[in-house]
Amino acid sequence: MILVTGAGGKTGRAVIQALISRGAGVRGIVNSNTNAQKITALGAEAVLGDMGSLEDMIGAAEGAAAIYHISPNVHARELEFGQTAVAAAIKAGVPRFVFHSLCHPQIESLPNHWLKLRVEEKIKESGLNFTILQPTPYMQNVLGQRQNILERGVYEIPYQPSTLLGMVDLDDVAEVAARVLLTPKTYDWATYELAGPEILSQTEVLHIIRLVTGKEIALKVISREDWCARAASAGMPQYAVSIFYRMFEFMESSGFWGNPGVLEWLLERKARRFEAWFRAVGNWS
Ligand SMILES: NC(=O)c1ccc[n+]([C@@H]2O[C@H](COP(=O)([O-])OP(=O)(O)OC[C@H]3O[C@@H](n4cnc5c(N)ncnc54)[C@H](OP(=O)(O)O)[C@@H]3O)[C@@H](O)[C@H]2O)c1
Repeated sequence: MILVTGAGGKTGRAVIQALISRGAGVRGIVNSNTNAQKITALGAEAVLGDMGSLEDMIGAAEGAAAIYHISPNVHARELEFGQTAVAAAIKAGVPRFVFHSLCHPQIESLPNHWLKLRVEEKIKESGLNFTILQPTPYMQNVLGQRQNILERGVYEIPYQPSTLLGMVDLDDVAEVAARVLLTPKTYDWATYELAGPEILSQTEVLHIIRLVTGKEIALKVISREDWCARAASAGMPQYAVSIFYRMFEFMESSGFWGNPGVLEWLLERKARRFEAWFRAVGNWS
């Protein structure tokens, strides 16, 4: 049995799906009944608890062959969650620890990156058998624009059209996670960058969106201030709002991509490209 933390989020559910489809037993630690229902529907066992509570984490980790640790996205308690997951693995005698980090954790100006590097450091110090996966931004983030594309005919971004991203398909990442978790020893003590197979500007992303939908979708650049005001009024905590602001600024000035070689080596096939992914998620008419 594998314990997945942050199990009810989009990453957790993709990893659970990949594990269950390969016949693995999965337990997920979740913070609400809603998230429990989401993962039991996939065939996983759900344990209600706080990832920051050592007691809850030890209870959830009991009997697990590995922990797959996912921190909630842009969360103030990210380091605490990572340290607790490592401590729980040691206390519960879990022999393997796989961490869902992200590409370029060394960016000090972005706390959601920098804190992941701190968690990676704790994992290395722990003496656990570990694997660290570092994905680039997901293609699935574009699905947040589904309503804009379908109902308003716009693709809205908080950075310039020239911004370059090397997006990866979350399902490719989940396939690698399952392979790593279900293959003992082969992937121990490794850190793998999981970057998408092409570096696209937002103008190129728009071109693909137009091609697949068959519609004259417009590209709309909104200011980071407006994006943040909207996110705050929708209930996003101030900590996250301020980091998203800096993240969009960083993306615009430096782009965000990596080298896809390691991902394709781990998949033993080509990684999914954006156009194929966008067509496959379908229903764009
Ligand atoms: N999005 C990307 O493009 C991308 C790319 C590379 C790496 N990543 C990394 O992937 C990770 C996961 O992102 P995600 O969007 O899948 O995660 P997410 O949905 O933000 O969070 C995962 C789950 O954790 C739950 N949670 C929050 N606090 C908790 C607590 N105290 N105890 C137990 N569960 C708790 C959340 O519950 P609620 O539903 O209540 O919030 C959510 O269901 C992040 O660390 C991110 O940096 C993301």
